[in-house]
Amino acid sequence: MQFIDIHGHYAWDIDDGIQTKEDAIKALNVAKANNITSIVATPHVIPGAHTKKDIEHLKERIQELKQLAQNNHIDVYQGCELFLNHDCIQSLQNGLYIPIENTSYLLVEFDVRKELGSQDEVEDYLYEIEVAGYTPVIAHVERYFKDELDIERISDFVESGYVIQVNASSLLGVHGKTVKNNAYRLIDKGLAHIIATDTHRCEGHRIPRMQETFDILSKSYHYQVLKTLMFDNPQHILHNEEVEEIEIKKSFLKKLLTRR
Ligand SMILES: [Fe+2]
Repeated sequence: MQFIDIHGHYAWDIDDGIQTKEDAIKALNVAKANNITSIVATPHVIPGAHTKKDIEHLKERIQELKQLAQNNHIDVYQGCELFLNHDCIQSLQNGLYIPIENTSYLLVEFDVRKELGSQDEVEDYLYEIEVAGYTPVIAHVERYFKDELDIERISDFVESGYVIQVNASSLLGVHGKTVKNNAYRLIDKGLAHIIATDTHRCEGHRIPRMQETFDILSKSYHYQVLKTLMFDNPQHILHNEEVEEIEIKKSFLKKLLTRR
């Protein structure tokens, strides 16, 4: 199967992701080996810190990545990962963000060091994204809960039409047991829409391990569920279409219970 990776810091020397062009080449090679055919480059954008000039610089570097990825026959699309803080409304008003390839989808993140439950403004920020005309794609939702997922709150996000993205690295256990369990639970509850790599490096754990993730998840989930999470829904985003909700068949519950 081919994969589309809508979240990754492949564009070099512009955030805490890949630092050099050489490493970007290596990361693209890993992506290719993992059957990733399309990438959305999503450098971090911090409201209050990034200027218009910075945004232009990010876009230029993404264009350079696009050229580079042609050698790997990987299509590169532009985007960003907008950090939602108290300056984000100003940034939205001033156009200081990059939606996913001119669609109405915008990848957003909260502070992973903080428990989502302790942040009152989350829903307000997400609403502001809607007011600006975008559907939030919420990055690595499993990472905002240090203890247990707040299923009700996440269900409200989904009911509001927001897109829930889970990291492949979380499913592989890179961020610890709780985050791993959270990531699986989001899928099991039908609350995840997309799996993406959130690639930051060309070696180690935070590389584009999409095929490896697919192979492991194949033991527990139907092919169609994984195809929706790792190809169809990412493609819907790129085509500016609505995403599909995944449905976990009851017959698989037994397998789920014996999986981990
Ligand atoms: Fe990220």
